Amino acid sequence: MRHAYLAPLLAAGLAACQSPTASTEATSPVRPYHEPYRPQFHFSPKENWMNDPNGLVYENGTYHLFFQFNPTAPVAGNIHWGHATSADLVHWQQQPTALAPDSLGLIFSGSAVLDAQNTSGLGQPGRPPLVALYTSHSEAREKAGRQDVENQSLAYSLDHGQTWQKYAHNPVLLNQGSRDFRDPKVRWYAPGDKWLLALSAHDHIEFYSSKNLLNWTKESAFGRGLGAHGGVWECPDLLEVPDAQGKPHDVLIVNMNPGGPNSGSATQYFVGAFDGKQFRATLPGTHWLGYGPDNYAGVTWSNLPAGSAPTLIGWMSNWNYGQQVPTTPWRSAMTVPRTLALRPGAQGELLLASQPIAGLSRLYEQVLNLTNVAVAGRYDLGQHLKNPTGRLRLKFTVPQAQNWSLILSNAAKEQVVVGYDQARNAYYFDRSKSGNVNFAPGKGFAQVAYAPRLAAGPTQEIILLVDAASAELFADGGVTCMTGIFFPSQPLTGLVLQASAPLTLPSVELAAMKSLWPK
Ligand code: FRU
Repeated sequence: MRHAYLAPLLAAGLAACQSPTASTEATSPVRPYHEPYRPQFHFSPKENWMNDPNGLVYENGTYHLFFQFNPTAPVAGNIHWGHATSADLVHWQQQPTALAPDSLGLIFSGSAVLDAQNTSGLGQPGRPPLVALYTSHSEAREKAGRQDVENQSLAYSLDHGQTWQKYAHNPVLLNQGSRDFRDPKVRWYAPGDKWLLALSAHDHIEFYSSKNLLNWTKESAFGRGLGAHGGVWECPDLLEVPDAQGKPHDVLIVNMNPGGPNSGSATQYFVGAFDGKQFRATLPGTHWLGYGPDNYAGVTWSNLPAGSAPTLIGWMSNWNYGQQVPTTPWRSAMTVPRTLALRPGAQGELLLASQPIAGLSRLYEQVLNLTNVAVAGRYDLGQHLKNPTGRLRLKFTVPQAQNWSLILSNAAKEQVVVGYDQARNAYYFDRSKSGNVNFAPGKGFAQVAYAPRLAAGPTQEIILLVDAASAELFADGGVTCMTGIFFPSQPLTGLVLQASAPLTLPSVELAAMKSLWPK
């Protein structure tokens, strides 16, 4: 995003924090991680502002999740890299903040890799470095109206990511003349025996290569006039994704703000071929990783254990209103991590499909498997949850296309509805009556989001994950996804399935989700 946004939003965000509700909550004796709206199985920082996931790397048994973090306020600004670690991508522990702003600027988004061969020379014998590439964003240059506000810098760690040193000769990649020039995503490109870096440059992605992570050579540019251009291109990721036969294809993920399919921030992708220099899209048109309002800046982990599927995590919010959401003392959570695969769409074309990571099953409790569930108008699924918490995982199949809706509700008659509209051949996410929808006037929070059904065949497979303040829909094996957040006055513990015509569901799996936090 353009960062002239900071001043007005900073003011609005601070005002929101000082609202009567916020200050009451701040003085109430609620324990950390048990505040109203606190996600119970998604990562969120203990306090203050978070946006994009950064520096996603697995090493030495640990998954690292760095993130855009303001350690001093619950709004964007003063951006550091926060840090969290996990042994399983499910349980997270926040760590000391990893990178702080310096004379080159704020620490904007970027990535991290294990430099196993010590190509950078920054390691020591027996201690290969973790190397992070990030954007130094200079507020001084921004104020001076300069173009070269954003340059790429490097930091490295010799203790498995616990502490980081900035490279002495930063920046390593100088601005090439674009005001938006950021979010380096690095990977090893084995066929060329070189590092490859994807970088966003306003309306296109630039690729650079390097033998040592320090000196970068421009290879090519991609994307002007292709895909969606309703906003600034940000946070790219070029990766290999397997199809159903296990054959890898090159996929370029491009985040964009604003201009998403349901307004604001969203993630598009291109399926194509990378020849070591240049990426070419083979699938024409515009394609969205998610159609809901709240999955942004998603990128994937590097150096995953052999045999792992590519795994992505996104920021579960939207720049439209992210700095005004009514949570305190933190703002924003990440999505659940998702594995990526290519799956056929209605015309047999390969689409990028997301699925929640399998490891989430560790959190299931009260697991229920129902067969041949007859829905005559309304079926109360919630009756099966003994102690409804508002956190659940639901999976079911619908044998033929027809209208259905899932209604999450509470005693205050607030509701979130996720459903399928046959006339539109679209899934939808409706939070218009979900409680507090007015914290960001004019930002479209209450509008209904639609997502086209992209798969062929009558049978729909639906997975829904619901946490205290979010729902994530994975439809048809994840080729159509929607993620949205909400702020009801009390937890949404009711769960009803409605259908306009009689419907029999061959299988329904329902599980409550355990909290990551002790009671
Ligand atoms: C995306 C983004 C990035 C930038 C970061 C700043 O949400 O705007 O392009 O590096 O956030 O926090």
